[in-house]
Amino acid sequence: MNNLENLLNLQINEIMDSEVKEAMRYSLLAGGKRIRPRMVYAVAKGYGIDDDLANHFAYAIEMIHTYSLIHDDLPAMDNDNLRRGKPTCHIKFGEANAILAGDGLLTYAFEVASKANVDASIIVKAIEILSKNAGANGMILGQCLDVDDNRHMNWEDIKRVHYYKTGCLFSAALELGAILHTLNQKVLNQWNSIGKELGLAFQIQDDLLDIHQSAEVLGKSTSDERNGKKTSVIVLGEETATTTMNDLYDHCLEQIKTFEEFEPSYLIDLVKEVQVRIY
Ligand code: IPE
Ligand code: IPE
Ligand code: MG
Ligand code: MG
Ligand code: MG
Repeated sequence: MNNLENLLNLQINEIMDSEVKEAMRYSLLAGGKRIRPRMVYAVAKGYGIDDDLANHFAYAIEMIHTYSLIHDDLPAMDNDNLRRGKPTCHIKFGEANAILAGDGLLTYAFEVASKANVDASIIVKAIEILSKNAGANGMILGQCLDVDDNRHMNWEDIKRVHYYKTGCLFSAALELGAILHTLNQKVLNQWNSIGKELGLAFQIQDDLLDIHQSAEVLGKSTSDERNGKKTSVIVLGEETATTTMNDLYDHCLEQIKTFEEFEPSYLIDLVKEVQVRIY
């Protein structure tokens, strides 16, 4: 296990023994790509901040992301049976425990964030960023719009769903890295918009990969077609979807270079790695 995997495992060890603890560990440590926590670290590092100070915010965003996946896979939502190369949480632990594992990770994320070794004003800001971006004005709104019948949606509508369901957690990750350097709202808003664009690019890519890769390579079952979902690829067509995705990534890469007192190379490398991902 590399360092982040170890550290996440240690966080789970702090929880009292129960079936829900094991379900939380199972999904959290099933081997995701860890893109969001790596973004927290990359922004922090760009501002010259040590990983140690960013750790708790990195754990928190990955816990919230994993919770969103557990609930996203439930029969009432996308009804998927494979995630991160393993049976989904509800297949392994039953629906009730999967719901609880999601609830547990979401709640624990805030407990963990509150213990970050930084000034209280930064922790309060982190809690605001996490709750805003994960909640009903953020990721949850996107999931709500996404479970609706979307056959009537045009590209503007789908884009809005993507911004919320995927972009908001990317925004949170970037902002969480940035608050270790500044609480200036103007700067944080700039990071927030980059996150939304990155999320949109990432979600278009997710839709593209869904049609090109096997479940085995992706490590997840692909339910959009079965669920009759209109994806970005269906609305734009494959070629335009690919161009749109790359234009968005390129625009983000330009924006990342515009911050004061920020060394962009760490985040640029990570975004470039994500841009050419194959799963
Ligand atoms: C999957 O996110 C959900 C989407 C927003 C498309 P990731 O592709 O980052 O999933 P993991 O964390 O690597 O499993
Ligand atoms: C998931 O979108 C977004 C969230 C979980 C918030 P998808 O439903 O497209 O993600 P996958 O394809 O199941 O990973
Ligand atoms: Mg979904
Ligand atoms: Mg899904
Ligand atoms: Mg998908």
